[in-house]
Amino acid sequence: MARVFVARELPFAALHRLRAEHEVEVWPERLPPPRDRLAGWEGLLTLLTDSIDLELIAESPELRAISNYAVGVDNVDMEAATARGIPVGNTPGVLTESTADLAVALMLALMRRLPEGEAVVRAGEWLTWEPASLLGRDLHRSTVLVVGPGRIGKAVGRRVEGFGGRVIEAGRDDPLPLAEADVVTLHCPLTAQTRGLIGADELAAMKPDAYLVNTARGPIVDRAALATALRDGAIAGAALDVTDPEPLSPGDPLLGAPNLLVVPHVASATHATRAAMAEIAVDNLLAGLRGEPMPHCVNAEALAATRREP
Ligand code: DGY
Repeated sequence: MARVFVARELPFAALHRLRAEHEVEVWPERLPPPRDRLAGWEGLLTLLTDSIDLELIAESPELRAISNYAVGVDNVDMEAATARGIPVGNTPGVLTESTADLAVALMLALMRRLPEGEAVVRAGEWLTWEPASLLGRDLHRSTVLVVGPGRIGKAVGRRVEGFGGRVIEAGRDDPLPLAEADVVTLHCPLTAQTRGLIGADELAAMKPDAYLVNTARGPIVDRAALATALRDGAIAGAALDVTDPEPLSPGDPLLGAPNLLVVPHVASATHATRAAMAEIAVDNLLAGLRGEPMPHCVNAEALAATRREP
């Protein structure tokens, strides 16, 4: 039986399986636990808001398994975990379709000006049917650039094609054909290479009537550059499920920028998807604590390579 810390209440059945095998403490608050509560455990089930850095790993000499309740693992120092021989699990696959749904929902909301339309109705400004009011853009006439055509990027591409749009893709080492796109949608992981990938130059290279959608990670976009681009009309609008930081402070200039739609990191937030993520996160942790391969281990290859080293 291992001492396990679960960094937030997960209201899903999977946690019973963890409790059946281990001594489990669950952080009961809505906000993330303070750093010192994460140190000193044998197993950790963490969220993307919990920073598992080099120091924390060093302060946890008995830590044997980290299971992140997310597909992204940018909150975990992978090098430090691997160096200590600690497997790190994530939850790929089960959130692909929900995330792709949200990316397309954001595109449509932005291009068809849904937030503006709703505001008009609620403000009592809907006078009558008008030929030229709230005109938007068609996804079916648009070229959508998928930056990071992995599982989620491909799922977005399938949806866009289903709507009649054209899809172009740019992978990790490709140049970004920004000037060709009516919509640029981001689906790459946050790494040292992708941090700030979309900055002032990239926004300037986009068409002035193009849109940016980010459902990946906030720091992939330079938020000051985005605020400026929106204010100057360098692009037509942006829809963000993720920001840097999360949440944005109420006075952040980005929130004051025009043609911006922001939602609070909800791409995987459906009942079925979050429950499926909990099952995988618990499977990963149980396997890791037993010393067995995790079903979804991000550093499996790196750990194997370390073991092969003389
Ligand atoms: C992830 O899994 O990385 C998402 O951002 C949250 O589900």
